[in-house]
Amino acid sequence: MITEVKAKGLNTRNFIAQKIAEIRAAVGDASAINALSGGVDSSTVTLLGHRALGKRLTTVFVENGLMRDGEPRQVAALFRKLKVPVEIVDARAEFFAALKGLTDPEEKREAITQTFYRHVFGRIVRESGARFLLQGTILTDVDETVAGIKRQHNVFAQLGIDPQAAFGYGIIEPLIQLRKDGVRKVGMALGLPESTCRRIPFPGPALAARVIGEATPERIATVRKATAVVEHHLKGARAFQYLAILHADRVTGMRAGRREFGQQIEIRCWDSIDARVATPTRLPFATLQQLAADIVKKVPGVVSVTYNITAKPPSTIEAV
Ligand code: XMP
Repeated sequence: MITEVKAKGLNTRNFIAQKIAEIRAAVGDASAINALSGGVDSSTVTLLGHRALGKRLTTVFVENGLMRDGEPRQVAALFRKLKVPVEIVDARAEFFAALKGLTDPEEKREAITQTFYRHVFGRIVRESGARFLLQGTILTDVDETVAGIKRQHNVFAQLGIDPQAAFGYGIIEPLIQLRKDGVRKVGMALGLPESTCRRIPFPGPALAARVIGEATPERIATVRKATAVVEHHLKGARAFQYLAILHADRVTGMRAGRREFGQQIEIRCWDSIDARVATPTRLPFATLQQLAADIVKKVPGVVSVTYNITAKPPSTIEAV
């Protein structure tokens, strides 16, 4: 049973001191690694881990081929500024090989989990001699996994999986009592730039959670382009999260006077505090029209753009 620490009333100084002590106690004089994706959870863990372990923590950015436009470069540049060295590991081929032919959401999630923890990190841990992986699992990830809604890629102990036995290393989760709003407070207190703390959430399975059906390199490239357009138009919307989803079914459209049996993009934009429940943002219709026009212009093969107007529940924030 995990005791929730609510953002309201959270004393970040005490929380950070306690977590640093816990990380040091768990790692002892061994070394650890952590996976940085650039989101607020993993960025906060990176700074916390470096405060606790200094050079005994190696931070790795796994280039899985599923990230947003320019993301690996931007994340490495930010942490260079924060004086935290980041190793970039190119694992694109491994992830796409694991996803090949998979269309079921939970099978896709499982393939990403196994590729990440067993194959990529198994190898990095063996080569580095690290004994622990530090990661930014938060309480919402645990809740949804335990409830059987979605298998979040980073939840193990609560499913009865011992990472030591399964992957050969221990996992330390200093943020597991927090929700997103609490993590943002801790990140700010650790000196993470406000732009990172305010970043909209992005799921562990990355753009593969936003492609319905098979996540091929081509289909990921399509949703990546649509995501860039959506993020550009909605960054001022003050919403909790906004995203583009590539649908599996095609529809008849027309372009330059000819029939085009094209692809469909769904836009979602959410108001939420902590992702447990969410409602679609009441975006101005003119914004939606501009978005649709820009997506069909910039994303080849797309002839239809829709907006999700269903709340969570019964919808969820991501589509897969
Ligand atoms: P859902 O889609 O379950 O997402 O309503 C809740 C919040 O968690 C973020 N998130 C994930 N979602 N798989 C997910 O489906 C993951 O591994 C994951 N990691 C984070 C999601 O973006 C939303 O903010």
